[in-house]
Amino acid sequence: MPKDRTVYICTQCGFESPKWYGKCTSCGEWNTMQEEVVSARPAASKPQKTRSIQKLQPVSDIQPKGERRLKTGLGELDRVLGGGIVPGSLVLIGGDPGIGKSTLLLQICRYIDDNNKILYVSGEESLRQIKLRADRLGIANGNLYIVCETDVDTIIQYISHETPDLLIIDSIQTMTLEAIASAAGSVTQVRESTSAIMKAAKAEEIPAFIVSHVNKDGAIAGPKVMEHIVDCVLYFEGDRNTSYRILRCIKNRYGSTNEIGVFEMSDHGLLEVENPSMMLLSGRPRNVSGTCVACKMEGTRPLLAEVQGLVTPTGFGNPRRMATGFDYNRLSLLLAVLEKRSGYFFSNMDAYVNVVGGLRLDEPACDLPVALSLISSLKDQSVGDDVVAFGEIGLAGEIRSVSNIEARISEAVRLGFKRILLPYQNLKRLSGHQGVELIGAKTVREAFESVV
Ligand code: TYD
Ligand code: MG
Repeated sequence: MPKDRTVYICTQCGFESPKWYGKCTSCGEWNTMQEEVVSARPAASKPQKTRSIQKLQPVSDIQPKGERRLKTGLGELDRVLGGGIVPGSLVLIGGDPGIGKSTLLLQICRYIDDNNKILYVSGEESLRQIKLRADRLGIANGNLYIVCETDVDTIIQYISHETPDLLIIDSIQTMTLEAIASAAGSVTQVRESTSAIMKAAKAEEIPAFIVSHVNKDGAIAGPKVMEHIVDCVLYFEGDRNTSYRILRCIKNRYGSTNEIGVFEMSDHGLLEVENPSMMLLSGRPRNVSGTCVACKMEGTRPLLAEVQGLVTPTGFGNPRRMATGFDYNRLSLLLAVLEKRSGYFFSNMDAYVNVVGGLRLDEPACDLPVALSLISSLKDQSVGDDVVAFGEIGLAGEIRSVSNIEARISEAVRLGFKRILLPYQNLKRLSGHQGVELIGAKTVREAFESVV
């Protein structure tokens, strides 16, 4: 009879090894290998039985059933899902603890049509705690049933007896399958519980949301270990100190992965932000040096955000460089290019960059606005407040073309900007735009001088 064996599994990527490593040899994370006992499956020893197989049919002969997507009522979430929840689909929502995953899922229960029965399984909070939260969010849906349960076999019984129209599991790291020896939150438990719940939900064509915590120190298995099982993976991101939250789609079998949804956390739960650019630009200082408006693509959606730069003489020793919302190494590189190629000297200056609103500018097109905000602070000359800039800066100090020009320009025009600074190469290929001045720039110096 096969024996149980001990293996070490990485909680970040699911890599399995008979030996312990301080650093996972697959994903390179430290201290993420966890000891687990894998029991020999009884099923493996069963004799092979003959299986009936279906008659093969070509894909052209398959008749699709009409696609009936369930609307969650939160427009931003529906868009990220590709137009609503597909029957029988399994959606994973990952995110840091406390970011608002439970709030989001409880909130959709308010909007979902009254005829749909929702089963909310919580392994983290008691009935009373959930009731308190539901009251705060104003949810009085008579079709919402809450169960506090962590045993997967019991949950599966609920699923097959109650056949809800929507299932919510909060969170998968608290769930356990009795047949598996390892603790709740371990890689094997998380993976097997997900598969078991998926099997039960798919058999009844019930769509399900599964919450999974992202955990940096590897104490519990993260969403990465089940991404391949589910149909759709969403990440809920945001800085806990700011109220903005971005829902980003990483994988979607039934829609585009290029969509994001923007929310704001308020006293009464999450509010949809339909015009994020306007929100990010509100309260912008006028005619002050050291600020510039950037345009970033979030998937297919352009977002405008303000970049602030501050350059001050270094008091002592090495100059300091600091970046919030922008890559530190990219900042060092930009400063080197500005110094060597464009003749702006930062070597005895401290330089700070901050992106307002907790957004991250990790796209090359945001090089130009960052550089302009720094030069503007250095020279103490303000960039016009009707200017939006975008363009990648090359190591020779040239401004290189970027993608999605039309979308960026229309977003800037929509928000009332009058001058758009863009790479010269992009301008050459554009036909005219009315009511807005397009300025093509070849070098950083030329760009700065054309907008001050
Ligand atoms: P929660 O949904 O419990 O996070 P998660 O399930 O991802 O761990 O969100 C908790 C945070 O949200 C907490 O810091 C308080 C905040 N919050 C509000 O600001 N307003 C609200 O109406 C609610 C319900 C939560
Ligand atoms: Mg929660």
